[in-house]
Amino acid sequence: MDHSDLLQFEPAPAADGALPYYAAQAQEVALFTHAFQQRLPVLIKGPTGCGKTRFVEHMAARLGRPLVTVSCHDDLCAADLVGRHLIAPTGTVWTDGPLTRAARTGAICYLDEVVEARKDTTVILHPLADDRRVLPIERTGEQLAAAPGFMLVVSYNPGYQNLLKSLKPSTRQRFVALNFGYPDAAVEQAIVEREAGVPAAVAQQLVALAGALRRLTEQDLEETASTRLLVMAGRLHASGIGLHAACRAAIVDALTDDADTAAALDEVVGAVVAPAA
Ligand SMILES: Nc1ncnc2c1ncn2[C@@H]1O[C@H](COP(=O)(O)OP(=O)(O)O)[C@@H](O)[C@H]1O
Ligand SMILES: [Mg+2]
Repeated sequence: MDHSDLLQFEPAPAADGALPYYAAQAQEVALFTHAFQQRLPVLIKGPTGCGKTRFVEHMAARLGRPLVTVSCHDDLCAADLVGRHLIAPTGTVWTDGPLTRAARTGAICYLDEVVEARKDTTVILHPLADDRRVLPIERTGEQLAAAPGFMLVVSYNPGYQNLLKSLKPSTRQRFVALNFGYPDAAVEQAIVEREAGVPAAVAQQLVALAGALRRLTEQDLEETASTRLLVMAGRLHASGIGLHAACRAAIVDALTDDADTAAALDEVVGAVVAPAA
């Protein structure tokens, strides 16, 4: 099939201010851009709430590509991605799934938390993720050649998966891997200021709190204070909730159900966040 009509390879870069806001941690913008130009798929690893989704949204807009996002879950199967025959009044009609739609139209397809999906799901990515860039659609017999602007991006959180849920080496070796962590303090402060609309002094306290909580909880809790939680606490505070109460609701009680742990974390909040704030 000829997709030249869909070829909008020259990125139509939105004016910088019109891009979804993204503060870079390192070289990830350049790496992603080059991977796109080289038609290499990208794997983004990192903890929850560190900016993976925002980064992909930013890059899609920056490269002038539509974005198709799929949140993977343990029930997701190959047909959910590729498509299926549906019963219509006129008979059965084939309906492309999100992956097929992205490959056909030259969009960026982002599979969020890909390790959650059923094992048979990742295998269908293989011919799309290497030089072939083909999606074999078994049910219709179509060998869909991905349009030039198509890019496959997957993310996962290496922290909380168990061993059974890691990506197979044969899958992961097809991807350029970008390793994300929480941003440096200065970058994270700028993010919190901007995303939550709080003054610099408040953002600074929230980031200091995150540093303390991360040191304390990294071993014990499944997840720790993410940039997302800082932004949520900041937003509650910006809308009129006291900073300590905002941190308790958006960070402490979001992280743990255990009363003793919550009390310990809350003490850290009290120590870091000025009680007068
Ligand atoms: N580098 C960043 N630039 C801008 N905003 C960020 C960044 N990192 C985190 N955020 C903020 O944190 C929130 C959660 O980030 P998100 O991309 O959804 O995390 P992830 O997909 O890694 O779980 C975003 O909505 C945004 O407000
Ligand atoms: Mg995400």
